[in-house]
Amino acid sequence: MNKVNNTPLLDIIAGARPNFMKIAPIIRALEQARKDGWNCRWRLVHTGQHYDKRMSEAFFEQLGLPQPDINLNAGSGTQAQQTAAIMTAYENLLLERGRPNACIVVGDVNSTLACAVTAQKLHVPVAHVEGGLRSHDWTMPEEINRRVTDSISDWFFTTSEYANENLRREGVEDARIFFVGNTMIDTLLANLDRLRPPSFAAALRAGEYLVLTLHRPANVDDPANLARLLHAIGDGATGRTIVFPVHPRTQQVVEKLNSVPDNIRLEEPQPYLEFIWLVKHALGVITDSGGITEETTVLGVPCMTLRDNTERPETVEVGTNELLGTDPSAIPPAMDRLLAGKWKKGTIPPKWDGRTGERIARHLEELLA
Ligand code: UD1
Repeated sequence: MNKVNNTPLLDIIAGARPNFMKIAPIIRALEQARKDGWNCRWRLVHTGQHYDKRMSEAFFEQLGLPQPDINLNAGSGTQAQQTAAIMTAYENLLLERGRPNACIVVGDVNSTLACAVTAQKLHVPVAHVEGGLRSHDWTMPEEINRRVTDSISDWFFTTSEYANENLRREGVEDARIFFVGNTMIDTLLANLDRLRPPSFAAALRAGEYLVLTLHRPANVDDPANLARLLHAIGDGATGRTIVFPVHPRTQQVVEKLNSVPDNIRLEEPQPYLEFIWLVKHALGVITDSGGITEETTVLGVPCMTLRDNTERPETVEVGTNELLGTDPSAIPPAMDRLLAGKWKKGTIPPKWDGRTGERIARHLEELLA
């Protein structure tokens, strides 16, 4: 292992868009910890899972992230191809450039699973930030990524009591569970003063438009299914504008559709500060993302999730999120309630307070002492 003169080395793994918001506060807190006297070093490893400027570089710039120390350039592919490419490249890095004292993985994307498994097989302890989430939906690759990652992780930095309970139920001892809060919300709160309107903002009226994001294979991969969803959303909004920043995966399918309702405004994937600006000023959000349900909960913006389940139940139980399922017929009645001002208000879950990065850095310092 690489502990030089008692200076622990950490690998921080990020690969896909939602990872970047989660690592930013951890890196900031580690920088602060180093100023405060903890002698630690880290390597920022970008797996290359997301590689478009709009999906990756733009986030590094806006969040003030340092350039990655290493890019594994894994790129796209099938689930197995992508996971295997990341594992092979990360294993090479560990063998050729040395093993760290801990590998920090975040979230539930293929990069999370690939690096956790690779590190653990080379006896590098793994810390999973956002461990313990469970949707119980085995059709989603993210659920498999979470389960496998958690089954081999040493330490868990969790966002909620639900996550703690899931881990305990699976036999994880309390000593390895650290309920720290939500790093994605650290990033949200740290950037609220820096939000920027997108170039087309003049065409929107605050509080009157909706924001839509869709990228789950179950919703977008079949063109007929995507068309049905878009028509239900367009009709349900009764003339209001729906801003739809289109994920590259979804774009490939949108291009095959004969028509998209006139009130749906197709836009490029937005950088972070513009996207959160859009959400903050929206009447409501329609999404199949998990992270966005956390952001809308903290911003107090109504959110409809086009999924049958969620690994983030607190966004439904105390937040502004509601699960509509994937049947388009559920959309118009929910939209009627939203437009009539009858959406629930919600509160903010415990420890989603902007200080999660600090808590993680403190725990790491103790764990690696
Ligand atoms: C991945 C994550 C998902 C996360 C999402 C956020 C997994 C299993 N899924 O899904 O949990 O919510 O990121 O965006 O890890 N593509 C580009 N440019 C890019 C990246 C992707 O064009 O920079 C296209 C490629 O055609 C690629 C497809 O989008 O095949 C899907 O990308 P991929 O990383 O496999 O999964 P996401 O759907 O982005």
